[in-house]
Amino acid sequence: MGGHLFDLSGKTVVVTGGGRGIGRGIVRALARANANIVISGRGAGPLAETAEEVASIGAPAIVVPCDVTRMADLQHLADAALDRFGAIHGWINNAGSASPGDVGPLIGITEQQWDAVVDLNLKWTFFACQIAAKAMTDGGSIVNVTSRSASQPNPMTGQYGAAKAGVENLTATMAVEWGHMGIRVNGIAPGVVVTEQRLSEGSMKSESRRQRQIDTVPLRRLGVVDDVGPLAVYLVSDEAQWISGAIVPVNGGSRVPVGYLSYLHHVNERMKAKESA
Ligand SMILES: NC(=O)c1ccc[n+]([C@@H]2O[C@H](COP(=O)([O-])OP(=O)(O)OC[C@H]3O[C@@H](n4cnc5c(N)ncnc54)[C@H](OP(=O)(O)O)[C@@H]3O)[C@@H](O)[C@H]2O)c1
Repeated sequence: MGGHLFDLSGKTVVVTGGGRGIGRGIVRALARANANIVISGRGAGPLAETAEEVASIGAPAIVVPCDVTRMADLQHLADAALDRFGAIHGWINNAGSASPGDVGPLIGITEQQWDAVVDLNLKWTFFACQIAAKAMTDGGSIVNVTSRSASQPNPMTGQYGAAKAGVENLTATMAVEWGHMGIRVNGIAPGVVVTEQRLSEGSMKSESRRQRQIDTVPLRRLGVVDDVGPLAVYLVSDEAQWISGAIVPVNGGSRVPVGYLSYLHHVNERMKAKESA
């Protein structure tokens, strides 16, 4: 180890869903650590904007379009990274979400809604890990972005929390199975982070909703995407070379999800009122 702490010069790191939201924040932090970055995602516009930002910081990067729910795309992502940079040292599985149309009270969740959320967040995170591990012929660091939802009840987003809990459990097993290959596997569990997506979905639009969320955070604010990236840099860096199987929370200290029960009561009341109207 030499030079600055957390310097990623010469290390190649793949980021899924790197065009926007937390993924873009991760790419930005990797660029500041001078990693070779492979930015992937589905939306061409956000990917190009992110690549432009990386270029202005001065880190080497390529863009590789990738829908993580397609095995061929994932394999192509690994191959493209190897073609361009020769090795893969870090792989951040950030792609994931629960579209508002796919979540709701568990009593009404359809098989299609279940599959959409659980496949994206659990199944495809796993296969991305597997493809990453096979491509890391000389060891490496895999980082899975999970969620505070993994370790608490999640009224209205139940199968999302279950999928993220599954990712955390698999992270522990992969860390055990792949340790002898020099591959570390860790997770980052963010609390509520304000992204363009969250703002446009409306869940963060109302001031009272926003305040209810802030009330669960000892550090008295919601997260921003740049709160998450530096931890990803650390977990990929050589400074973390004895850290594996860990899930690190990034949540302003909010261990207790105050208010989820009152939120559930509120939703139930609203649904009852709708039914009787
Ligand atoms: N924001 C939060 O409060 C929060 C809290 C805890 C955990 N997280 C987790 O953090 C990660 C990023 O969340 P975010 O809030 O930044 O995301 P977001 O704004 O909701 O956007 C979803 C991200 O996932 C990518 N994605 C979705 N489906 C994909 C697919 N099939 N193939 C490739 N990429 C796909 C999107 O990329 P494209 O659409 O451009 O392809 C985008 O980067 C997710 O795993 C999420 O579960 C978020």
